[in-house]
Amino acid sequence: MKSEKIDRIINSIGKLPTLPTVYMKLSHLLNTPDSSIKMISNIISEDQAVAAMVLKIVNSAAYGFYTKIGDLQRAIVILGLNEIKSLVLATSMYKIVNQFKSSSAFDMQQFWKHSIGCAISAKVLAETAYIKDPEDVFTGGLLHDIGKLIHATYLCEEFNGVVANVVETGSQVFESEEKILGFDHAQTGSALAEKWRLPKKTVNMIAHHHLSYIPDTMTKEIAAVHIGNILCISLRMGSGGEKRVPIVNQKAWEILDLKLSDLEYIMQRSTKLFEESISVMGFQ
Ligand SMILES: [Fe+2]
Ligand SMILES: [Fe+2]
Repeated sequence: MKSEKIDRIINSIGKLPTLPTVYMKLSHLLNTPDSSIKMISNIISEDQAVAAMVLKIVNSAAYGFYTKIGDLQRAIVILGLNEIKSLVLATSMYKIVNQFKSSSAFDMQQFWKHSIGCAISAKVLAETAYIKDPEDVFTGGLLHDIGKLIHATYLCEEFNGVVANVVETGSQVFESEEKILGFDHAQTGSALAEKWRLPKKTVNMIAHHHLSYIPDTMTKEIAAVHIGNILCISLRMGSGGEKRVPIVNQKAWEILDLKLSDLEYIMQRSTKLFEESISVMGFQ
């Protein structure tokens, strides 16, 4: 019943954000065994905004090259395929967020920073916890709150009520959404990710990032996005509208098998990477 309602909303939105074709083509190509750097470069070149961002990042202080790199193929070799894929997704997401206007209830710039902040923190957590594909966790972190974008844009009036309720009661956004809309942004976001045909793993990271209950499909990736979200809220990396820092789910912490002393490194590294990324991929 509830999922029917979410499907109805997703299907009734005429101009639903689409994942730019460059990301779809790139994902497909990276899954084929005989892809070459030249083929990857050709796909990225199809979207000038994405190509420009890849070059901007590789030329940023983070990589520390003395001479300017103007060649996309060289940039791809330097960054590596997985990082290129994350970067293309981040640029695509940036284009989607930039399409929408902020309202008094929802600030897109803050939302963008929150999404990047969570992606970075979740990836650093994943690396520290030796999760196999940290870039997949970056993707989950980047998209974890995408449902809020749908609510803020297409259910504008109701979402204003949600924001007011969060301020009034101090509850989490997802709790107020559940109360006012009857569903939350994790459900809308995961429905959108399914529509985008993203891997099940990504859909699950979006669907369960609050961990208000432990799903049957509990994984280390979900735990990393859950804690990454909380870290970026507590470190004030942008804002997704939360007014208080959520509590870390005990099971999520246990499954990552991290020591408390790892946390300081994770916070420092995430903050550094976040500041570097925002200076390159800042909101215009
Ligand atoms: Fe959320
Ligand atoms: Fe969030």
